Parts: sequence; structure tokens; C-alpha cells
Amino acid sequence: MIKFGTKIINLIFTVVRWCRRKRALIFLAGMGASVLCFVGINAAMRPVSRSQYCGSRCHEMNTAYQSWKDSSHRANRNGICVECIDCHLPPEDDYFAHVAVKAYCGARGIYEHHFGSEYDVEKTRKEVLDSIGNQRCTNCHNDLLAKPGSTAARVVHAAILNQPDAPDSRCVKCHEDVGHKRQNKLPSP
Ligand code: HEC
Ligand code: HEC
Ligand code: HEC
Repeated sequence: MIKFGTKIINLIFTVVRWCRRKRALIFLAGMGASVLCFVGINAAMRPVSRSQYCGSRCHEMNTAYQSWKDSSHRANRNGICVECIDCHLPPEDDYFAHVAVKAYCGARGIYEHHFGSEYDVEKTRKEVLDSIGNQRCTNCHNDLLAKPGSTAARVVHAAILNQPDAPDSRCVKCHEDVGHKRQNKLPSP
């Protein structure tokens, strides 16, 4: 009888140990899968985040890509290249927002490419103008007043930085052309 009781207790301990090990295994497998997912997403995102990829995959992007090449953020004398994602997506430091918006825009783009109506540059331009908040620009231009830029610019910028939420204080309201040089109206293919 005592022997039988010990056997039962041993069995219970074995089952508990097994469960613990199994939980540890499941936990480790979960961790491994998360790390793999993270590395995978990052590796997959790198090539699709390049401006050349963003701009040359489908004909809808052609006007945007060509006009970006001529813009001050690409064709400047210092050879600095500001990428599409720097203006069009939340910053990479805000990882989840960055990935979520990228996934949403990518999926919407693919859907509209196959099932949507004819791409309308003007309509999309207006949507983009409404959606690019000042923060996208001030992530890089955080020294607007300190810069030895023109006095006119400093006066205007001091005024708008005092009223950051006013509609007229939006960077793209005055600097509409920074990402795409539109003067030489390029034909949409
Ligand atoms: C410096 C910021 C900036 C950069 C860099 C930039 N954009 Fe833009 N983009 C804008 C702004 C502002 C608008 C709205 C005003 C306009 O269209 O001129 C816009 C408009 C657009 C539009 C809608 C109008 C159209 O031409 O179809 C698309 C699409 C677009 N951008 C894609 C891109 C792609 C692709 C790249 C990189 C090759 C890029 N942008 C780089 C700021 C930027
Ligand atoms: C990733 C960093 C980055 C982002 C994001 C960015 N810029 Fe710039 N911007 C630069 C750099 C670098 C230059 C200087 C290029 C040069 O040396 O001429 C510049 C130049 C400029 C200039 C002077 C040239 C011109 O076109 O008149 C303006 C104005 C400007 N940016 C406005 C903006 C606005 C508005 C936004 C947001 C839509 C923005 N930038 C987003 C980095 C950035
Ligand atoms: C009310 C209009 C207006 C708004 C809004 C505005 N700017 Fe400007 N910005 C100017 C003027 C005017 C200049 C001077 C242009 C020149 O000298 O050719 C200028 C020049 C610049 C320059 C060139 C460097 C310099 O200081 O001379 C940068 C960069 C710049 N602006 C970034 C921004 C950013 C970022 C925002 C949003 C936080 C912004 N601007 C909002 C009017 C504006």
C-alpha cells in the first residue's frame, strides 16, 4: 500500500516536472519564434523600404519618383538623400507605428493597383498634404531658429513655432514642393 502511494507521488512529481519542462520548452520556442519573426520582418522590410523600390515598382509611383529625384531632398548640393519613408511613414524609432502604417499603405496600394479606379495624382497629392504632420519634418529640422538661415525664414518660423497647432503653421502649407519638384509637370504614364 505504502509502495503504491510512493509510486503515485513519484508519478505526480514526474508529470509536474514534465509539464514544467514542457512549459519552459513552449516558452523558449515562443521566444525563438518571436526573435525569428522580428529578424524576418526587419530583413523583409529593408529592401522594400528603399526609395528605388517604393518608387519604381508600379506605374502609379512614377510621377512621385521622378519628381522626388529632382527635389531638394534628393538633388541637393550636399549629396544628402532623404528617402520616401522619411516623409511618408512614422519614424523607424516608433517601430510599431512604422510597421503598421507601412503594412496598411502597402496593402492599400496593392489593392488599389489591382481593383481600384485610375490613379489620380492630384487627389492623392491633396490627401498626402493633409496627412503629413509637422513632426515628420521636425524629426530632422529640429533647429529651425538656431540655424544661420535667412532672417525671413527665422521670423516666419518663430511665429509658426509659437502656434504649432494653427492650420497655417503646417510645414507643407508653405513648403509643398520639398519632396517632389512639380514645376516641370511630368506626364503621368
Ligand atoms: C521631403 C519629404 C518627402 C519625400 C522625401 C518624399 N515625399 Fe512624397 N510627398 C511629399 C509631400 C509634401 C507630398 C504632397 C505634395 C506633392 O505631391 O507635391 C507628397 C506626395 C506624394 C505622392 C502623391 C502624389 C503623386 O505624385 O502621386 C506620392 C505617391 C508620393 N509622395 C510618393 C513618394 C515616393 C515614392 C517617394 C520616394 C521616391 C517620396 N514620395 C519622397 C513629401 C515627400
Ligand atoms: C530625414 C531628414 C529630413 C526630413 C524627414 C525632412 N527633411 Fe528637409 N532637409 C533635410 C536635409 C538634409 C536638407 C538639406 C539639403 C541641402 O543640403 O540642401 C533639407 C532641406 C530642406 C529645405 C531647404 C531646401 C528647400 O527645399 O527649400 C526645406 C524648406 C525643408 N528641408 C523642409 C522640409 C519639410 C517641410 C519636411 C517635411 C515634409 C522635411 N524637410 C523633411 C532633411 C530632412
Ligand atoms: C508660413 C510659411 C512657412 C511655414 C509654415 C514654414 N516655413 Fe520654412 N520657410 C519659410 C520661408 C519664407 C523660408 C525662407 C525661404 C528662402 O529664404 O528662400 C523658409 C525656409 C525653410 C528652410 C530652409 C533653411 C532656412 O532656415 O532658411 C527650412 C529647412 C524650413 N523652412 C523648414 C520648415 C519646417 C520644418 C517647417 C514646419 C515646422 C516650416 N519650415 C514651416 C516659410 C515657412
